[in-house]
Amino acid sequence: MNILILNGSPRARGETAGMIEVFQQAAEARSHSVQRFDVCRMNIKGCLACEYCHGKGQGVCVQKDDMQQISEALQNTELLVLASPIYYHGISGQLKCVIDRFYAPLYPKAPESLKKVAMFLASGDPEMYEGAKFSYEGDFLDYLHLEGCGVFTNHDPEVRQKLRALAEAL
Ligand SMILES: Cc1cc2nc3c(=O)[nH]c(=O)nc-3n(C[C@H](O)[C@H](O)[C@H](O)COP(=O)(O)O)c2cc1C
Repeated sequence: MNILILNGSPRARGETAGMIEVFQQAAEARSHSVQRFDVCRMNIKGCLACEYCHGKGQGVCVQKDDMQQISEALQNTELLVLASPIYYHGISGQLKCVIDRFYAPLYPKAPESLKKVAMFLASGDPEMYEGAKFSYEGDFLDYLHLEGCGVFTNHDPEVRQKLRALAEAL
């Protein structure tokens, strides 16, 4: 299975990175193909709402920055993993820019291969996930009709086992 992980944390050894590593190792051990982008180290600007991609561009963004690498990878992704720290009740701004820029590669429709989504979240407060979950459920499950593989958080004492189980079940 082709897995695309978008890491929205700037901290190389943080909680989000720790969850990604557990999952990535387990997935690669089962011969899944994993592509990971550390979006905080990339040059990805916010959506301009110019609507070029929904008109003349037909799915191509007018902005030429590192988002092109992610848009390309998305074309044969089967499982999308959105991984992020919680910043002020939501995902990090860097990852939000990437999701907003999905407006282009998901037009006129999402790539055929894209079937599943999972979310890895890290926060200081264990009750702080509702904002990110709202977007996960509303945008990725309900709107894009992806199959949800779960929301995994750093406050779950069994998160490492659950992430390995996720990779094993793919
Ligand atoms: C700008 C900023 C905003 C944050 N906002 C929240 C918040 O609203 N709620 C919360 O529980 N933690 C908040 N935190 C704490 C982080 O979510 C927490 O430290 C998380 O574990 C960081 O993940 P990481 O180690 O993967 O970078 C914030 C941290 C930063 C830097």
